[in-house]
Amino acid sequence: MNYSEKVMDHFTNPRNVGEIENADGIGEVGNAKCGDIMKMYLKIDGDVITDVKFKTFGCGAAVATSSMATEMIKGKTINEALQLTNKAVMEALDGLPPVKIHCSVLAEQAVKAALTDYYKKQGVDPEPIVGIIPDCEDCHE
Ligand code: FES
Repeated sequence: MNYSEKVMDHFTNPRNVGEIENADGIGEVGNAKCGDIMKMYLKIDGDVITDVKFKTFGCGAAVATSSMATEMIKGKTINEALQLTNKAVMEALDGLPPVKIHCSVLAEQAVKAALTDYYKKQGVDPEPIVGIIPDCEDCHE
């Protein structure tokens, strides 16, 4: 299987791995296709994501996409993070082999799940803001 240099870089040297104590939002999602799971922690100040960390029991492509996704939302606003799609993450990594596209959805889902948790903790209904968290069936290339 051919992985881009960026994928290999983020897989062998993933950014933002770990957890955040007293995170403002925690999202845990599972991939229906392979059973892998991902946990995402967000620290939020006002509407800015000041810190983000992740842990995954997922494959190399899941590690690489999550690493890239955390870099893409760190320091960004919640709104910007909500625009993040698995497609954008894949593009930033110069692509993934087609059989691995479903892996990239974990990162997008985990960000949305963590934001859902954040709003719930604030006593705000997350659904109008975050929407329904997409699942693997919505994987887009
Ligand atoms: Fe499960 Fe990639 S094979 S996330």
